Amino acid sequence: MSSRHSHPKSKSPSPTAAPSPDGAQRPPTSQGVSNNPETVPSPAAAEQPQDPADGPINTQIPFDEEDDADSGIEDEESLRSTSSLAESIFDYRNIHGRTFQNSKTTEYWGPNDDRQNTGLDIAHHFITMLKGDRLFEAPIDRALSKVLDVGTGTGIWAIDMADTYPAARVIGTDISPIQPVWVPPNCEFHIDDAQLEWTYAPASFDFVHIRALYGSVGDWGRLYAQAYKALRPGGWLEDLEFNITLHSDTPSVRDDPGHIFKRWSQIFFEATDRLGKTLRIGMGSTMRDLIAEAGFIDVVEKKYQVPSGGWSSDPRMKIIGRYNLAFLEESLEGFALFLLQEIMGWSYIQVNMFVMEMRNEIRNSKIRPYYILTNVYAQKPNTAE
Ligand SMILES: C[S@@+](CC[C@H](N)C(=O)[O-])C[C@H]1O[C@@H](n2cnc3c(N)ncnc32)[C@H](O)[C@@H]1O
Repeated sequence: MSSRHSHPKSKSPSPTAAPSPDGAQRPPTSQGVSNNPETVPSPAAAEQPQDPADGPINTQIPFDEEDDADSGIEDEESLRSTSSLAESIFDYRNIHGRTFQNSKTTEYWGPNDDRQNTGLDIAHHFITMLKGDRLFEAPIDRALSKVLDVGTGTGIWAIDMADTYPAARVIGTDISPIQPVWVPPNCEFHIDDAQLEWTYAPASFDFVHIRALYGSVGDWGRLYAQAYKALRPGGWLEDLEFNITLHSDTPSVRDDPGHIFKRWSQIFFEATDRLGKTLRIGMGSTMRDLIAEAGFIDVVEKKYQVPSGGWSSDPRMKIIGRYNLAFLEESLEGFALFLLQEIMGWSYIQVNMFVMEMRNEIRNSKIRPYYILTNVYAQKPNTAE
C-alpha cells in the first residue's frame, strides 16, 4: 500500500494519514496517537475492501520501539501474570464442567468444554475494557425492561447485564447448555438455535445483543431481520464480531504471503465457506450494510485494533493485550480441531503443528501482532411497527 510508513523511533502509531483498520484510506487526524477506535457512521463511509491483500496498519495501539530490545517472546512473568489475571475472573464465577453441544439443527465449530469457556470469559473481560468498561456502546436512553443475548455462550454478558440492570429481564439463548445455574433472578437462559424462526413476541425487546457468532450463522441478513422484528420501536441492536486475521506491521511478516497469519485465516475462511457459515462477517462494511438493509437506522460501526500480548506502551492496552493473548491461548486449538480435522480432513498431528506455529507467532511481541474487532450498533426506528 502506497501510504505505508516505517514507525518513527519514538512512539507509534504515526499520526499521519493512515488506512482504516480494514485497509481503506482515512483522512489525517489532528489528534495524534489515540486508542480510540475508528467510528464510521453508515452508510456514508466509502466501501472498504473485503479481504485487503496487504492488510491494515496499526493506528490505535501505542508502543515503544525500544521494547524491541527484549526477547520478543512473552516472558514467563507476563504469562504468569496473565494466568493470575484469568484466575481473578473466576474468583466470583463458577463455570460448569465439560459439556458438549448436541444441536440437531446446526453445526458450531467451537467446543463447549472448560478450556473454551475460559477463553470466552477472558474475551468478555477485555472486550468490556475495550468498550470503556461498558457492556455495550449503543446510546440507550430509556430504561431497559427486556434484553436478549443471542448465542450467549457461558452467559457472562447476560449475567453482568442482569446485575447491572436489576429491573430488566435478561434472556440469553444458546445451542449449548453451558450457562451456570446460579444466576441473578432477572436472568434466564434458553436453549435455542438462533437460525430458526424466533418464537419471541414481535416488538417485545428493548435491546438485542449479539457477540462472536462469527462462523456460526448461515444467513446474517435473516438474523438481523429477526432481531429487528423482536425489538420494540426505538429498541437497539448491538453486534460485535471478530476478524480472525492476525496482522503485524513488521515488513517481514506483513509482506510475506506465506506467513502463518495469512495461512491461518485462509484455511479457516475455506473451512467455514464449506460449512456455509462465513467467518468474514466482521470484515469491511458487511455488518453495517446488512444491519441497515434489515431496516435499522443510525447505524454506527467501530473497528478496534486489539494487540495480542502485552507489547503496547499504553498501560490499558497492555492489559487488554495480555487478556487477549490468554484468550487466544485457550481458544486456538478448539477453533482448529473441528474445522480443520472434520471439515478440511487434516490429521490431528497436522492440526497440532499448525496450531503450534500460530501459537508461537501470537506470543511473539517483537512483531507486535494484533487483529480487528468490529462493533456495530443501530436503532429500530421509533416509527416502525
Ligand atoms: C464464540 S461463542 C460466543 C459466546 C458469547 N456470545 C460471548 O461473546 O461470550 C459462540 C456461541 O454461539 C453459540 N451458537 C453457535 N451457533 C448458534 C446458533 N445457531 N444459535 C444459538 N447459539 C449458537 C455457541 O454454542 C457458542 O456458545
